[in-house]
Amino acid sequence: MWQFFGRKEILSELKFLLEFEEKPEDRSFSALLILGRRGVGKTELLSQIEQRVPSNLPYVYVELPDPDKIPDSGDVAIDLLIKEASRSGLDIANLLPERGPYDSTTIWFGEILATLLRTGAIVVLDEFHHSGNPKLGFVSQIKLKIDIARGGRGDWGRLYPGKVVMMGSHQQNVRQLFKSTEPLFQRQDVTLRLRQWTLPTIMEMANQQGILIDPKKFLIL
Ligand SMILES: Nc1ncnc2c1ncn2[C@@H]1O[C@H](COP(=O)(O)OP(=O)(O)O)[C@@H](O)[C@H]1O
Ligand SMILES: [Mg+2]
Repeated sequence: MWQFFGRKEILSELKFLLEFEEKPEDRSFSALLILGRRGVGKTELLSQIEQRVPSNLPYVYVELPDPDKIPDSGDVAIDLLIKEASRSGLDIANLLPERGPYDSTTIWFGEILATLLRTGAIVVLDEFHHSGNPKLGFVSQIKLKIDIARGGRGDWGRLYPGKVVMMGSHQQNVRQLFKSTEPLFQRQDVTLRLRQWTLPTIMEMANQQGILIDPKKFLIL
């Protein structure tokens, strides 16, 4: 990308919510939902977060594969999760329990998620609406693991000091998963809404790109 513009407030809000500054023993679980229409900059925002994450905080970003396009999308999601976890410096092979012979893909995904949250990792699930696709069917496991991580709060949330961040480009379908009739109802602790660029950000961008001094270029805005 050419350059990242604006988003200063939401960046510092995210750093606060993800407890960048907290000592490991003071961190506790939370689930974040990030809404915003396609192309508004959600994925970009999180990649900026990744660049700022303290080195002692494992950061695991996974884009859930589209089950309608990718065969065995559940296994693909698991492979991605494990690969990103080791890339973040976690000794994931030793952290994970043994996979039971009857553990389905869905259950195994849940186990990995819970393990990551227990180690205090930030787990970003992008294109989260795919979790609701019956072919992937991750929703029930995600709900279960969020409930376990939350526990009775108090000390419990501390046993799972990680964070789960849920977002996706299909805003309608992401919201749908959190409706009152759906399993993930009220499973998010915080909802952040990413809005279109503000005028000062547009002007900053236009200025830096030399658009302001050339009125003809202004038209491309
Ligand atoms: N703050 C920003 N400054 C510059 N470019 C941005 C910014 N936010 C997003 N973009 C660019 O806009 C495009 C769409 O952003 P993206 O993060 O993919 O949107 P979303 O994930 O919400 O669908 C990408 O090419 C991205 O690099
Ligand atoms: Mg995106």
